[in-house]
Amino acid sequence: MQTTNQTSIGKGWQRAVELEHAQSDRLREDLDDGDFWKPVAHRFTPPSKEEAANDDTVVQLSNLISSNETVLDVGAGAGRIALPIADHAKHVTAVEPSKGMRERMAQTAEVWGVSNLSIIDSEWQHAEVEPHDLVVCAHVVYTVQDIEFFIQKLSASAKKHVALISFKRPAMAQYLPLWDSVHGEARIALPSLLEIEQFLPALDISYEKIPLDTWISRPFKTIEQAQTESQARLFISPDSEKAQVLARVLEDSLVEVEGGYRFKWSEPHQPFIVLWNTG
Ligand SMILES: C[S@@+](CC[C@H](N)C(=O)[O-])C[C@H]1O[C@@H](n2cnc3c(N)ncnc32)[C@H](O)[C@@H]1O
Repeated sequence: MQTTNQTSIGKGWQRAVELEHAQSDRLREDLDDGDFWKPVAHRFTPPSKEEAANDDTVVQLSNLISSNETVLDVGAGAGRIALPIADHAKHVTAVEPSKGMRERMAQTAEVWGVSNLSIIDSEWQHAEVEPHDLVVCAHVVYTVQDIEFFIQKLSASAKKHVALISFKRPAMAQYLPLWDSVHGEARIALPSLLEIEQFLPALDISYEKIPLDTWISRPFKTIEQAQTESQARLFISPDSEKAQVLARVLEDSLVEVEGGYRFKWSEPHQPFIVLWNTG
């Protein structure tokens, strides 16, 4: 891990993420291939090209650039933002460490005919990338330990703006109520927007906060999909006793909605763009 001169807020963030990761490591059962994101990569794939173009995040971000400027999307996932914003930019670079996510992004880029996108297999902390006009980083920081180094590198890589997108609570929070019933303990919460707003001033970064449309996760298409994704989020192996407990818990936790099933406690999340200028 990279190190930087951390503020006390950065140290508090790191401690919170370390505790959450330690809990994951302690409870983790054997998993297929260790790619945490692969089972949910489909959730980060943009919908149809037209729908993605009208997504308010894409519209707001595209207003920050002109067609001869470049975008760097850090932790681009399956290209939910990188792919549609490529229509508004000279070039988009997507940095993404998950193979499952990169494969989905590349497939969609091919289907959509996006030719001004390059995909880099790396964690941001180790990526070697030239500065771009706009740097985007959506829903990535929650699990980052060396947060201040990570943010400072975003700033140093932006010629004009950094757009950090965050929920008040990570979307993974929708799995939290399952932890007690399946693991017999509450999930340790990750830091989020509140803490981001605390440490940006400590890094001398002045930002504005732009609210985006509320967002609710796509429903599980089937109960089996709810089981598979919940197993992955709770780090449990499909053949274990805990998987059977989870199946019983899900019987009482899912409600039928248009297009499939949702947790009965699911509610819309409010994302924000936390935007600052660098040049
Ligand atoms: C919740 S997904 C968000 C994906 C996409 N930005 C979006 O909003 O649809 C988080 C992504 O961040 C990536 N990620 C996690 N840690 C990272 C790191 N240290 N550097 C770069 N990407 C990272 C994960 O692989 C995953 O694809």
